[in-house]
Amino acid sequence: MEILRIKGGNQISGDVQISGSKNAALPQFAAALLSAEETILENVPDLSDIRFMGEILTHLGAEVSKLGPNTWKIYPANVQPNAPYELVRKMRASICLLGPLVARIKKAKVPMPGGCVIGHRPIDLHLLALRQMGAEISLNQGIVEVDGSGLQAVDIFIGGRHGSTVTGTANALMAAVLTPGVTTLDGAACEPEIVDLCTMLIKMGARIDGAGSHLLKIEGVEKLNGCTHRVIPDRIEAATYIMSAAITRGKIRVKGITPGHLGAFAKVMHESGVILSSNEEDSMDVHTRADGLSPFEVVTLPYPGFPTDLQAQACALACTVPGLSILTERVYPSRFMHIPELLRMGAEVSLEGANAIVRGGKPLNGAPVMASDLRASAALILAGLAAEGETWVHRIYHLDRGYESFDNKLRNLGAEVERLPETALPPTFRSPTD
Ligand code: EPZ
Repeated sequence: MEILRIKGGNQISGDVQISGSKNAALPQFAAALLSAEETILENVPDLSDIRFMGEILTHLGAEVSKLGPNTWKIYPANVQPNAPYELVRKMRASICLLGPLVARIKKAKVPMPGGCVIGHRPIDLHLLALRQMGAEISLNQGIVEVDGSGLQAVDIFIGGRHGSTVTGTANALMAAVLTPGVTTLDGAACEPEIVDLCTMLIKMGARIDGAGSHLLKIEGVEKLNGCTHRVIPDRIEAATYIMSAAITRGKIRVKGITPGHLGAFAKVMHESGVILSSNEEDSMDVHTRADGLSPFEVVTLPYPGFPTDLQAQACALACTVPGLSILTERVYPSRFMHIPELLRMGAEVSLEGANAIVRGGKPLNGAPVMASDLRASAALILAGLAAEGETWVHRIYHLDRGYESFDNKLRNLGAEVERLPETALPPTFRSPTD
């Protein structure tokens, strides 16, 4: 296993190029199954989750090839309904296969997605939508089996207790595009990743109205064609680099982004004193107010609210801002696994239910810390950039699932970050069995 060693204290500077969005690309790999023709996806981030999805599609019978570092070709002439347990278990996003399989071959057998450290992640809304469309669904030995031979267009309310569901909306959308009649999805997610999925599906010949709103109308068509589609930039990666500049009080240019996708995140940064200025349509300059940052309040909500995928990183930033900041999780109320690790670095954070109360301003000290999921990994690295001394981040395979070349990009911004084998750990930090 590998670890990252970070030597804190450098103010980062320079340009960073943002990769394509993981959370747009993964459902789009699944969407390629909706046509028997060839689909080309460009600007796909080079991540382990993407490679897993490619392996799953191959197992399902598609011809999948990587034409370049960020370009994939998917040719699903023949598709079978059984998704492989071992691969699906590793990646929750594979639940997005249900909709396209049921639409294309009227059948799907997809293992229940694995648990996740960020909290309870049911799929009841995914299954509710398919059932309301007439699908017969059973759970046999942990495998969700769907018979979609009788799918019909209906009006569905797909919102849940925590608001809209991103991949639930994607699944229902992809089940509806080949279902005769007009299906409506009320309470649908309006994340940019869903808009991008609609853009791709419309290129394939789908008839969809309302992309970007909470009400989607889908008129089913006979068949869909292949297409070539360029994945949108990753707004979560972009915001993570914006906070890496903020936490080191550095000054960077973030390139290849869609500034309009930052939603409430940009507002919170502005209020705290992180100055964002976009001079060109796809780049943003970032620096911090000369007299320092102010504490801030965050409530995570579905888009355009503050993204839950940025809460851990914002928590790390708040640790360096004098005063009390409050971060409330409304999407995944127990998504606070990063906090015990930040405490190891001297952070002062208390948890009251789904609220993290951060008393910021005391310098952080480098320490060996453990990543628990991909966004917590990013948060611990950001904390390491600001901490005094060295921080060692374990289990960085989490990071590689969702951030392309994170350590290389940070090094190019002047951060002292090194990827090392676990054996490089100082003896004091090694487990006794080593
Ligand atoms: C997507 O997950 C993202 N993943 C997540 O990003 C992101 O955190 C999440 O949306 C919220 O924005 C991908 O797009 C691959 P949800 P998803 O269904 O679709 C509840 C990352 O770090 N819910 O929008 O699985 C659920 O428990 C990952 O990149 C139900 O109750 O999330 C949660 O509270 C982590 N029933 C809320 O809805 C359901 O059937 C939002 O979940 C489905 C969801």
